[in-house]
Amino acid sequence: MAKQTTKLEQLEKIKEKIIKDDICPELRKGAKQMVFGDGNPDAEVVFVGEAPGKSEDEQGLPFVGAAGRFLDEMLNLAGLKRSDVYITNIVKYRPPNNRDPYPDEKAAFLPFLKKQLEIIKPKLVVTLGRHSMEVLLPPGLRISQSHGQPKRYKDQVYLPLFHPAAALYNNSMRQTLVDDFARIPRVLALLNARGSRAGKADSTGLAAI
Ligand code: URA
Repeated sequence: MAKQTTKLEQLEKIKEKIIKDDICPELRKGAKQMVFGDGNPDAEVVFVGEAPGKSEDEQGLPFVGAAGRFLDEMLNLAGLKRSDVYITNIVKYRPPNNRDPYPDEKAAFLPFLKKQLEIIKPKLVVTLGRHSMEVLLPPGLRISQSHGQPKRYKDQVYLPLFHPAAALYNNSMRQTLVDDFARIPRVLALLNARGSRAGKADSTGLAAI
């Protein structure tokens, strides 16, 4: 009988494929290493950021710099530990000088992000910032309006949030992010209690949960 591969092994294969296909060689050449993702492959919640920064590039782990420390604080407030969740980014190599990833870079890494989510099968995907909301949810959403509202799209529930780095030095955005973050346990409890039922989808395919 064929050996069943674990989720960790399947994730490792995705990482190997990024290397084998040499995705975004220019980014790879400028980066110290790939930042693929970190955490529990059986997580109920996956957080998706934008791209690694300097500290992440140095350590090979997502969200370990200033924005990561803030993320840890909020995880703590929501009663979650880093080891309970899985954290990754759209783009897996640090863009030079922390510039925003280009559309073609996001597009090149998107199939790998989708594979990661397919393997982990989280109950909830939390998008951190505009970039990950835009690649995973239908066009036309504005983070200023959609943040903190859980939505179902193509059989997956998403919670768009502001990016911790954007909220770090903006007090009102920081409080909004903390408040939105505090909804995560309630969203999970709702999803666990209700199974997969959702409201009626609108023309974009989004449904309130
Ligand atoms: N910002 C991101 O979007 N991702 C990280 O890993 C760190 C900072």
